Amino acid sequence: MKLAARLSRLGTETAFEVLAEVERLRLQGRSIIALSIGEPAGNTAPHIKEAAKEALDKNLTHYGPSAGLMSFRKIIAESVAASRGIPVVPEEVVVVPGGKPVIFFTLLALIEGGDEVIYPNPGYPIYESMINFVGAKAVPLRLREERGFSFDVKELRSKITPRTKLVILNSPQNPTGGIIPKEDLREVAELANRHDFWVLSDEIYSRIVYEGKFESISQFPGMKERMIILDGHSKTYAMTGWRVGYGVFPKVLAPHIAKLMTNSNSCTATFTQHAGMVAMTSSQDCVTTMVGEFRERRDFIVKGLNAIDGISCRTPSGAFYAYANVTKVCRRLKFSDSRWLQQFLLHKAGVAVLGQQCFGSRQSDEENEYIRLSYVSSLEDISEALRRIGSALSDARLVEEFRNEETARAAKA
Ligand SMILES: Cc1ncc(COP(=O)(O)O)c(C=O)c1O
Repeated sequence: MKLAARLSRLGTETAFEVLAEVERLRLQGRSIIALSIGEPAGNTAPHIKEAAKEALDKNLTHYGPSAGLMSFRKIIAESVAASRGIPVVPEEVVVVPGGKPVIFFTLLALIEGGDEVIYPNPGYPIYESMINFVGAKAVPLRLREERGFSFDVKELRSKITPRTKLVILNSPQNPTGGIIPKEDLREVAELANRHDFWVLSDEIYSRIVYEGKFESISQFPGMKERMIILDGHSKTYAMTGWRVGYGVFPKVLAPHIAKLMTNSNSCTATFTQHAGMVAMTSSQDCVTTMVGEFRERRDFIVKGLNAIDGISCRTPSGAFYAYANVTKVCRRLKFSDSRWLQQFLLHKAGVAVLGQQCFGSRQSDEENEYIRLSYVSSLEDISEALRRIGSALSDARLVEEFRNEETARAAKA
């Protein structure tokens, strides 16, 4: 049977594959500490779960409007307006199952074959996958360690062509924890107005910021009409499995996105929207407590990583990821790239991390190797993971054993 050619352009999120491998190893009785997961380790707060249970008991289990319940859209509009300092009306808000559909729907709604889309590299892998899937040209924009894992606006300028239709920004950023400085956001806004391109600003980590206040490009003149804000409850309220997300779109675009919802999902589950409303309108203490814990774990993991010979790690400013430079370790152990290190740490140290190959195609001038570590686990787990990493990396016998096994596996394949 012949499959559609477009499937060959579809990428994936390797984190889910690593998760499956972790489960497989655990079933074999192996102890694995997973620092590969992109979600808060804590559970959804009890009052949010109660709201969902109440909604179920009231039989709020039927179809709802494709764009989301108006009461929820109002709450989101008020919240986004207050946090970004911009006017937002409920008609500009579309509720979707998680943040991801905002990426897919935006690309489906705006992009045609041959358009160019600029996106962060390393970055959330779904950007590159979806850009390729819709038949656009994916134009990676390097995030540079020396810039706190933001990009150089000059480099962005050099990538803009008459075919540039959309620029994707993500701040705080996955996988680096970097934040785009406010002045750079202002310059990107000027470029968007001058060159007439759209901006998709992925702000899913907007509430997980450790220094200063969150800044959105939406605050700059002219942006509101040419941009989409992506946000949602997955990370902020530890609700990844609930699938509650939303986009704020220009008024002309929002009804089309709602129509894409009608065609794909019909609507976001009604009872989860009720829980989502309660999450936003009740005490925010659960968010404050979670971010406080992340800050402590961030400081702990960064210090621990920097104490390991051959690893250096900047202190991330947001999200819950440490992006460690492992170039020296890879060279010393003669691992050709961080994929090897990822496998070595998983199989020989019992620690799951993600290598940089999980976050976009490698750029030709790229010299460094990185791994991403989520610091959402308990301090005890992080401490044990650091101990295991340090010990495995200094064990020549283990490295040799791994190399032999990998060579045998490759020969078999
Ligand atoms: C940068 C970024 N955007 C979007 C998402 C998708 O979030 P959701 O799980 O709500 O679809 C993620 C999830 O990891 C992410 O890291």
